[in-house]
Amino acid sequence: MSLDSIKQPVLAQLATVDHVIRTRLASDVVLVNQVAEYIIQSGGKRVRPLVTVLAGQACGQPSSPQAHERLASTAAVVEFIHTATLLHDDVVDSSALRRGQDTANAVWGNQASVLVGDYLYSRAFEMMVELGSMRVMDVMASATNKIAEGEVLQLMNAHDPDTTEARYFDVIYRKTAKLFESGAQIAAIIANASPEHERALADYGKYLGTAFQLVDDVLDYRASAEEMGKNLGDDLAEGKPTLPLIHALKHGNAGQQEIIRSAIEHGGLESIAAVTQIIEATGGLKYTADQARHQTDLAIKALTALPDSNYKQSLHDLAEFAVKRSY
Ligand code: IPE
Ligand code: IPE
Ligand code: MG
Ligand code: MG
Repeated sequence: MSLDSIKQPVLAQLATVDHVIRTRLASDVVLVNQVAEYIIQSGGKRVRPLVTVLAGQACGQPSSPQAHERLASTAAVVEFIHTATLLHDDVVDSSALRRGQDTANAVWGNQASVLVGDYLYSRAFEMMVELGSMRVMDVMASATNKIAEGEVLQLMNAHDPDTTEARYFDVIYRKTAKLFESGAQIAAIIANASPEHERALADYGKYLGTAFQLVDDVLDYRASAEEMGKNLGDDLAEGKPTLPLIHALKHGNAGQQEIIRSAIEHGGLESIAAVTQIIEATGGLKYTADQARHQTDLAIKALTALPDSNYKQSLHDLAEFAVKRSY
């Protein structure tokens, strides 16, 4: 199922989200506009606002124009926070390519990227104040806090070949899954959903986000950079012990283990060919993809609490997309 067909039931809402994003991006500081426009106009899949809009609709969001606007603002908040994390992430990861174009840090430098990331975070919080829901602010304040912790934890794991699978899952929950979880949950809050539906959607988001990051970590070793719009091998270059490497380290022979350990410790891409071959030989990518499949199954299971609708069907298809995607 393509992302375009998954978006079909909420095209009108997504157009409003896009409009909100464009109007709320604006600043009278020229460089803020330039950098923010640059990353936003480059597109991105807009998966997180899609989850938020579908989640709101799936739990019976009212159909008034005011409710439509509120849900669109909520979804735009989630995309702003996501975009802020990308601006910061590309600095931290020294990445050069994002969404098929030079990263903002490559064009304007690290300082501008970090500061405009801060601008997007704070704009998102201004928009939440306008929404006027203390619970939404509570959920998103905790989410951004968790994301920051996740990125710092990952920094602590970098170059450490003894990173465990548990530590890896803790990092991806915080840095990625939490925003999906919270984005689905605040849609339920905005739609005045029952606590049961709110829980189901938050769970769905958590599992979907975990699957999404697991697949991202597979794609870093095997996608096409052109299709991904990001450079491959960035994880190894930074000495990031992602699940394919952790698995290879556990199941490789002594010689293979030595190559992987040294690659994690030193980073860089000198040994990428050997490392990729060992990951393949030890089934590291298949293992990681299987874990993603498991998370997707859990996401789909969480949806059973919701009434049937074409929105729920799209959430289901999106969970499938998360494991099958190649970009
Ligand atoms: C990239 O997210 C960061 C991860 C959590 C893997 P996306 O793959 O959703 O990035 P865009 O928004 O489509 O560019
Ligand atoms: C994605 O981090 C999570 C956040 C942006 C917080 P990654 O570093 O794994 O994602 P990509 O590969 O750069 O998109
Ligand atoms: Mg990165
Ligand atoms: Mg990163």
